[in-house]
Amino acid sequence: MKAKKIKDHIYWMGSVDWDRRLFDALIPLPDGTSYNSYLIEGSEKTVLLDSVDPSMAGELLSKLKGVSRIDYLISHHAEQDHSGTIPLILEKYPDAKLISTPKAKGMLIDLLRIPDESFITVEDGETLSLGDKTLKFIYTPWVHWPETMVTYLEEDRILFSCDFFGSHIATSDLYVTDEGSVYGPAKRYFAEIMMPFRNVIEKNLEKLALYDIEMIAPSHGQIYPRPAFIIDAYREWILGPPKNTVVLPYVSMHESTKRMVDHFVSALVERSVRVEQFNLEVTDIGKLAMALVDAATIVIGTPTILAGPHPYAAYAAFLANALRPKTKFLSIIGSYGWGGKTVETLAGMVPNLKVEVIDPILCKGVPSEDDFKALDELAAAIAEKHKKLHLN
Ligand code: FEO
Repeated sequence: MKAKKIKDHIYWMGSVDWDRRLFDALIPLPDGTSYNSYLIEGSEKTVLLDSVDPSMAGELLSKLKGVSRIDYLISHHAEQDHSGTIPLILEKYPDAKLISTPKAKGMLIDLLRIPDESFITVEDGETLSLGDKTLKFIYTPWVHWPETMVTYLEEDRILFSCDFFGSHIATSDLYVTDEGSVYGPAKRYFAEIMMPFRNVIEKNLEKLALYDIEMIAPSHGQIYPRPAFIIDAYREWILGPPKNTVVLPYVSMHESTKRMVDHFVSALVERSVRVEQFNLEVTDIGKLAMALVDAATIVIGTPTILAGPHPYAAYAAFLANALRPKTKFLSIIGSYGWGGKTVETLAGMVPNLKVEVIDPILCKGVPSEDDFKALDELAAAIAEKHKKLHLN
């Protein structure tokens, strides 16, 4: 794909990765992704904002063929999907200076062995004149590493936000035209890499509220011509109350846990509690992460194997603990053969979750009528707790 003009002297120079299906060897990318680099030609200086994933370096270099001079290269974030092609850009434009936060400088040296003399570091709020255009650098830590910043182009009121507000979508459309279709991928992206840092991101949002932003140009996904859409969505995900929802990741070996899950889900639905159920044998963990953004309760379903939880259930607990959702309640259901420490092990894996643990229901062998009754009681307890908090 060729470079695309956004406004006079401002271009998208990105690459669309239609085929990528996994990020960080962890995160599923059902819709592919893009790495958005941007070029701004001021009356005196030319600047490239971020590069692209090294797998797409050839595309960026090809787009730069007609660009004779780059004075500055801005690195908002040191992760290699944006920084990985910087060494090649510096090779092509040896006089270009690399602008970053001081923290990003250290990381870029560690990760890419970029020489010290290539850098100019900027402070929070510092500006850079390109002649008729002015860039303002705004520190926005933890979107999604600690060194991150964004750039506000004052005259054109464009915010270049790198990972912040991004979404993993491969598309030939430069701009968001259907907000409904972007909401899900953007929420999934927030869940996967932003959610653990939401308290800091809340402060970043407050900081950005001081700026008159006409469009947001992130480094993954499409440009937002109506920034309020994604800013409001972030506010909701960060500040909104949890929902009247139980997220139920489970795994079953011989159907006993599955029978418990089926009964329990019906019992919750009968009590008007929404359920998002994930069979961990086959689930897309990005969808599980997305469900954790606003669910009030997590219930993990697991059999006992080798005296503890099934490793898939342990994985779900580890993931939830790492993502630190705003969940209020947690419980465990499942079946065991002769004993073990399933509950203790799982409960010990979620120290980051500030949750009230509701008594787990573990049954020996296949569930009995008494076990189903206990599951009804657990469903009723959860429904009652949600009701007391007036969750919708
Ligand atoms: Fe798109 Fe954190 O890199």
